[in-house]
Amino acid sequence: MLRSSAWKLCRVGQKSLQRQLEACSVTTRAAVFVGADYPSTGRGFAANSHDVFGQHRDEKGNTISTPFDFTDANYDAVADILLRYPSNYKQSACIPLLDLAQQQNNGHLTLAAMRRVAMLLDMPEIRVYEVATFYTMFNRSPVGRYHVMVCGTTPCQIQGSDGIYEAISNHLGLHYGQTSPDGLFTLSEMECMGACVNAPMIAIADYSNGVEGYSYKYFEDLTPADAVEIVKRYKDGEKPEMGSRYRSKAEPAGAVMNGKWTPAQKTMPTLTEAPPGPFCRDLGEMPAPEQPKA
Ligand code: FES
Repeated sequence: MLRSSAWKLCRVGQKSLQRQLEACSVTTRAAVFVGADYPSTGRGFAANSHDVFGQHRDEKGNTISTPFDFTDANYDAVADILLRYPSNYKQSACIPLLDLAQQQNNGHLTLAAMRRVAMLLDMPEIRVYEVATFYTMFNRSPVGRYHVMVCGTTPCQIQGSDGIYEAISNHLGLHYGQTSPDGLFTLSEMECMGACVNAPMIAIADYSNGVEGYSYKYFEDLTPADAVEIVKRYKDGEKPEMGSRYRSKAEPAGAVMNGKWTPAQKTMPTLTEAPPGPFCRDLGEMPAPEQPKA
């Protein structure tokens, strides 16, 4: 039993590594596949695959002289955010301000946007760059209007995230790290998004309507068909409801198995009744270990 689980984990790891290597080789020459406005030369497969490794490289629309400033409405939002922190700790507003800048800038956190945040918070620019490069939710490369992120960590992989990736990838014609030529979709892999109990899952960030229309939604308990249907609905301009496709929260109603939702069987343990076992050994009944002969 243990052996077969270990083998399964090993296979999952091998597949993931293989896919990452594929994505790496694809993304380094991805400029030919994506629209000219979505440059990708030099991209590698970092933790968030659309992003470049921790280094800024000048690209069209992202140089030190590219202008960025918050809109008047967003300066009001900046003021509200700063009110949350004591004035001598306003650097604590770094993440919310970077997030606001990214939303305003169609999901792309440019060098100029990071510098603007550093200036507003009286921080050394390098401190802001450090934050932006650490968190994978910050996109230092352009993304499409809809940023589709597939969770690729072990619980989601065991529950079928490979199938989710393949279905979305085939539907959109994209590999990890690529953006569709019409600029609508970027496909990325994300590490655990914290909803493993409802695995497999994806998240979609919607940058199609600025800060007001921004959303970041988790879609859980997905079959490959569910994932494609959600992507289609975004393409049609709809706002699909987030959460699990098959249960209201994380109650033991079933699970996605082999690409299908499978309702809980009587033999499946629940939290509302005594577990069926097997239980731990009664150590009191264990024979005493043999003592080595003198
Ligand atoms: S592994 Fe996918 S949400 Fe945790």
